[in-house]
Amino acid sequence: MRKKFYITTPLYYVNDEPHIGHAYTTILADVIARIQKIQNNEVYFLTGTDEHGQKVQEAATNNNTSPKNHVDKYVKRFKDTWNQINIEYSDFIRTTEKRHTQRVKEILNYLFSKNEIYQKEYEGLYSVSEERFITEKEAAEGNFREIKKLKEKNYFFKMSKYQNKLVKYINDNPDFIKPTSRKNEILGFLKNDLQDLCISRPKKRLSWGIELPFDKDYVTYVWFDALINYISAIGYNNDNEKFNYYWPADYHLMAKDILTTHCVYWPTMLMSCNISLPKTIFAHGWWLMDNTKMSKSLGNVVNPLDLADKYGPDALRYYLMRNMVLGQDASFTIESFEKRYNSD
Ligand code: ME8
Ligand code: MG
Repeated sequence: MRKKFYITTPLYYVNDEPHIGHAYTTILADVIARIQKIQNNEVYFLTGTDEHGQKVQEAATNNNTSPKNHVDKYVKRFKDTWNQINIEYSDFIRTTEKRHTQRVKEILNYLFSKNEIYQKEYEGLYSVSEERFITEKEAAEGNFREIKKLKEKNYFFKMSKYQNKLVKYINDNPDFIKPTSRKNEILGFLKNDLQDLCISRPKKRLSWGIELPFDKDYVTYVWFDALINYISAIGYNNDNEKFNYYWPADYHLMAKDILTTHCVYWPTMLMSCNISLPKTIFAHGWWLMDNTKMSKSLGNVVNPLDLADKYGPDALRYYLMRNMVLGQDASFTIESFEKRYNSD
């Protein structure tokens, strides 16, 4: 009997070009998918792009173009990069595709009709860089940038009511969040009272998003939109046979920067829709440049294609897999790349 195997990468923001960090997660997924294919399993390897929200809208404005033109241009760069480094994905989903936006609207309508979503006025600290309201404690910890106070009427998802259920689920399912250090981080986070999740943005502040089906003055918060890709891509509410075959996902891969959204927002969203949870959420470490995270916003990125052009895609793939201990951070230097290449 062939077994199904469903693995995903995050949907990367198309505010800039892919770098070594994105390439790492995508190559890791490809390597695992290939092993599963060799074992004759029915593999579904999903990747794609996260195209709505403030970051993308700002990137388009900075490039003097419309969000739609911007995303179309940048998606191509992601696809070209994956082609050139031999990524054999089964599916590439864009959150601007109808097969996704329709499902998001259906889920919003469903949860609104069940009173799982409600409107209220809220004042709190908002991190522009992370596009979400944060707690005082999070602000004090100093991991968020561009923090400002914001008072707004918005729609909220009743995330808080799932807190105990989620804690129990995490404790009952030791493979749900890996590695264990990340599981403990989430259990620590869940020791504080979980808040309801703000899932809308007023159009006067942000127009580039999926319009709320029950209020045309708002668009959907980009995370509530993007996470749904993991089920919209495999036919949720559209192709039940395919969905029931592949879901639950075997692995959601990502780095530790997006642990909370995947281990708290996503599971509670699924619970409120009565959908089973993914088997394993695996958060790996970061590629660092001089001890800081390689990231677009810091501008310290390495383009994977530069390395693939010079040394070949296999050398790049091998180096990234070999020089990072899964789960830990690793430093990228061209010296370590050449040393590995020459010695191995
Ligand atoms: O967070 N080291 O997109 P994103 C290792 N759109 N991996 C890295 C990395 C680094 N320095 N930098 C990036 C988003 N990554 C959302 C996701 S999912 C429904 C929505 C990889 O473009 C890693 O997988 O910021 C990380 O989690 C992801 O890129 C973040 O990509
Ligand atoms: Mg990011």
